[in-house]
Amino acid sequence: MTLQIAVLASGTGSNVSAILDASEEGRLDARVRIILSNKSDAPVLEKARKRDIPVWSRSHRDFVSREEFDKAMLTVIRNAGADTVVLAGYTLLLSSMFIQAFPGRILNIHPSLLPSFPGVRGGGDALAYGARITGVTVHFVDEVMDNGPVIIQAAAPINSSDTLENLMPRIHSLEYRIYPQALQWLAQDRLRISGRRVTLLPDKRPHASSASQGQSLLGPWLVSPSLETF
Ligand code: GAR
Repeated sequence: MTLQIAVLASGTGSNVSAILDASEEGRLDARVRIILSNKSDAPVLEKARKRDIPVWSRSHRDFVSREEFDKAMLTVIRNAGADTVVLAGYTLLLSSMFIQAFPGRILNIHPSLLPSFPGVRGGGDALAYGARITGVTVHFVDEVMDNGPVIIQAAAPINSSDTLENLMPRIHSLEYRIYPQALQWLAQDRLRISGRRVTLLPDKRPHASSASQGQSLLGPWLVSPSLETF
């Protein structure tokens, strides 16, 4: 069923662009109904306006508590007709009240192989640590930052000569593939959560490309479960 998406974002919005492109090109069965940000100058808002996506932007500091801020977002999201929440570089933790309002329907992307290097600098922290393999994770959201059940991960090698400037574009290019893929699986109702584990059900449509026939190796990158259409 077509996902009705509300995006929460605080930054550049390049993942939002990838999701919008995938949806416009018919690879992702989703419609972005609204983009919300806690930062009024976030470049993602300009990107949204250029594509005629409604935006909502308020600082959480204007509210008496974070729960009140989240309640305001919840009302906006419901009024926009969204049923799925996509975090794309959103810098605030969500309250339990908000998370419980969308059971199994809030996703996040993080630029490391969780549980390694959670937080706001996942890519840079992996590089500074000296890790030789890092990557990207898409996961369901729970009350703890960068913690919920993992849907898909993609691994990428770190070369000894890498800097943040050349590592992050490689990380981002993986993000732009695995986030729309995870959302497409959600749209197809093929994800099942049991405790910390997420199962991807087979695609029952005739002529579907099954995960086992999809791409698990993209050059030096390993992706699990395998990509299908992305
Ligand atoms: C992305 O790299 C995403 O993985 C990261 O923020 C960036 C947003 O970029 N998220 C986190 O670090 C979550 N802890 P974008 O605004 O260009 O999509």
